[in-house]
Order: sequence, then C-alpha cells, then structure tokens
Amino acid sequence: MTGLRAIVLGSAAGGGVPQWNCRCRVCALAWRGTGLVRPRSQSSLAVTADGDSWLLLNASPDLRQQIWSTPALHPRDGLRHSPISAVLVTNGDVDHVTGLLTLRERQPFDLYGTEVTLASLADNKVFSVVADDLVPRRPVVFGRRFEPVPGLSAEIFPVPGKLPLWREDEALGLGEEGENTVGVEIRAAGRRLVYVPGCARVTPDLAARITGADALLFDGTLYSDDEMIREGLGTKTGARMGHVSMSGPSGSAAALARVPVGRRIYVHINNTNPVLIEGSPERRAIEAEGWEIAHDGLEVTP
Ligand code: MLT
Ligand code: MN
Ligand code: ZN
Repeated sequence: MTGLRAIVLGSAAGGGVPQWNCRCRVCALAWRGTGLVRPRSQSSLAVTADGDSWLLLNASPDLRQQIWSTPALHPRDGLRHSPISAVLVTNGDVDHVTGLLTLRERQPFDLYGTEVTLASLADNKVFSVVADDLVPRRPVVFGRRFEPVPGLSAEIFPVPGKLPLWREDEALGLGEEGENTVGVEIRAAGRRLVYVPGCARVTPDLAARITGADALLFDGTLYSDDEMIREGLGTKTGARMGHVSMSGPSGSAAALARVPVGRRIYVHINNTNPVLIEGSPERRAIEAEGWEIAHDGLEVTP
C-alpha cells in the first residue's frame, strides 16, 4: 500500500494510562477495568509513505510493546530486520527519547533531531548503547525539508515549549520557541500531516502552519490548566509544564477553532485528563468541537 499512512503507537503523555503509581479519577477507572477508560501507552507516532519503511516520531519507553502490537513494525526479512528505518525526536523529554534504548540491538537506522536535542542525548552516556556507527545522528534545521524514509518528506518548525524536565536545572526557557521543542510537517503523496505533541501556546505562525493540513495531531496533555492541582496531584499548572490546555478561552480547541484542518486529533493525553473517560462531559464537549481523542493503534490515512 502506498500513500501517507500514520499509526498512533502511543496516545498518552508521560506515565501512560494508567500511570504505574496513580489512582486519580481516570487511572482508578482504568485499573478497575471498567471499560470507561482505555489503557494507553506513551507518546509516539509511526508514519510511512510506501508501507515498507517507517519513520517513528518519538521513541517512547513503551516502544517494545508498541512494536509487538503493530504488525507493520515486525521484523520481516532475514535474521535481523526492522521496518523502522528512521526516528525523529521532537524534544528531549523522557517519554519521547527513552525508547531509543529499546532500539539498541545493532540495527541500523537514522536518528534525526535538532542539534540541541541530539547534543543533550550525546551528553547522556547511556544513549551510546545506540551505537553511532550504525545509527548516524542527523541534525535537522528549520526550513529545510528532508526525506527520512522513501517518498516521505519532513520539515521541523519551532513550537513554544521548554527544556526537558531533566534539564530544568538550566534556564527553563518556558514558552520560548527554539530548538528544544519542535513540531513536524510530513508530506507524502500530496497529503500533509502536522504533528505537534508538545506545545505551550498556539501562535499565529503555528496556526498558519496547521492551516489546510489533511491531519493534525496535537498536544492534548490537559483539559484544563489547573487540572493537576485540582486533582491534588501536584503544584504545576499546564502553563508551567509547557502544555497549553484543551479548554478555555486560550485553550487549543478555541485557538484552532477557525483553522481549517481535515482531521484534528489530540495525542499526548495525560492520565488526569477527563476526556479519557468515554462519554464524560469533557469528552463530549471536545468532540462537539470537532476533535478526536486518539487511542493506541489509531490509523490515520489522511
Ligand atoms: C512533558 O510532556 O511535559 C514531559 O514528558 C514531562 C516528563 O518528562 O515527564
Ligand atoms: Mn511528555
Ligand atoms: Zn492518573
């Protein structure tokens, strides 16, 4: 099969659903197996143009299980093989890079990211198990398209974000646009998909980038900015975490309401987010605004 095809490998934010140590409202429903909350693994998307060779957008700590659940990513030829021939990381967050460690068995693929993100991985010696003689690090820059897998072209663009949690001892860069957090535009067979799993704020540039895309997969971390605080789970607002919330006058649903897009899909959904509860008022409200809530295994063929 040819043409742009994407599979959501993991639709949850860091921690997944349910999170290993969490009994928040959503996680409790998931643990109880009520069927009201689907379990979800951590943030990653696979894309292809030719159906043979796949690009991973982010490599989550759940990657091994995600490959198992996704026949298109199973090894097919000879003794050692993988359809995964490239990985692009959009930031250095734990939920987006630690899956690289799963890909360490001397299998060649290309690793793409900004200079800054690749440098933070290089600073961390554990990633040297993904040997660079077989996995060349390929820095990418804004405004220059590249072809990570045959027939599929990609371009990164800056998105307001912040440094990864594990680098917060440095200047946080909250809300800054630069190489720390990027979005990705994918083009193949005349179709266009935009992937933005982390975003602190919808800027005019970002809205322009999204306009007219056949599919948008966007940061759905929180429903409301003070969700973690209200649930008694922490002190951080969404704004402090570098994630714009879905709802409210400055939320992503409102900010993108008048931006034409083929399909609008939330990904990177945190386990506190009430839209994860099937039929909840928040789920119904966000669907009424035209959004889909991704689940693991969701296929998007825009
Ligand atoms: C985030 O999306 O804010 C990060 O994944 C948080 C983390 O690293 O745990
Ligand atoms: Mn995350
Ligand atoms: Zn939870």
